[in-house]
Amino acid sequence: MRKTLQEPSLIRMVRWAQRLVAEVLEVGDLAVDLTAGNGADTLFLARQVGPEGRVLAFDVQLEALRHTGMRLTEAGISWTFDDQDDAGVRLIQDSHARLTSYTQGPVQGIMANLGYLPGGDQGVATRAETTLSALRQALDILAMGGRMSLVGYVGHAQGKDECRVVEELLQGLSSRHWHILRMQVVNRFEAPYLLVVERRG
Ligand SMILES: C[S@@+](CC[C@H](N)C(=O)[O-])C[C@H]1O[C@@H](n2cnc3c(N)ncnc32)[C@H](O)[C@@H]1O
Repeated sequence: MRKTLQEPSLIRMVRWAQRLVAEVLEVGDLAVDLTAGNGADTLFLARQVGPEGRVLAFDVQLEALRHTGMRLTEAGISWTFDDQDDAGVRLIQDSHARLTSYTQGPVQGIMANLGYLPGGDQGVATRAETTLSALRQALDILAMGGRMSLVGYVGHAQGKDECRVVEELLQGLSSRHWHILRMQVVNRFEAPYLLVVERRG
């Protein structure tokens, strides 16, 4: 039967981010969610890597990690909070700018949905400086053939600035070693857009 127009939406970038990261993730892999938020990407990553794999999920807000934990529990996935278990999902209340204090990789899949927690405090949004620091570290520990997705929001000044510096960083990467894709809505001004980075060699 033909699907209704509401779902799945062609222009939902978080959905494309998951599909493109799923292509390179296997059971047993290590994955990182740089912005856990309400946990949709953390749950997706946990399902992809399975109980033998490992997911590190960062957020500076306890509220976000609570939501993420609840979502995982509802899905029957166990998790730990700031604990150093070998396998499973580890929720970390810290800035993603400290990524390599928690793992040296190699990480097969990394996701970042920038901006603020939907329904939460809009003042606690990702920021250009910390995002750049996290992305530099993420590029260092991304596995060969691994992918990192970034959903950027250009609908407000801070987000615009953040996306600008992120793109400057990515444009400086050698096309021999990095494949980088941008996916965007053509006919909606300032819609969220997607960047996907793949390490080639
Ligand atoms: C758009 S939300 C993420 C949405 C999430 N991926 C989901 O599926 O619901 C962005 C999140 O980034 C978090 N955040 C902001 N600055 C951060 C930082 N420096 N380190 C880690 N997380 C941060 C916010 O607290 C917020 O929860």
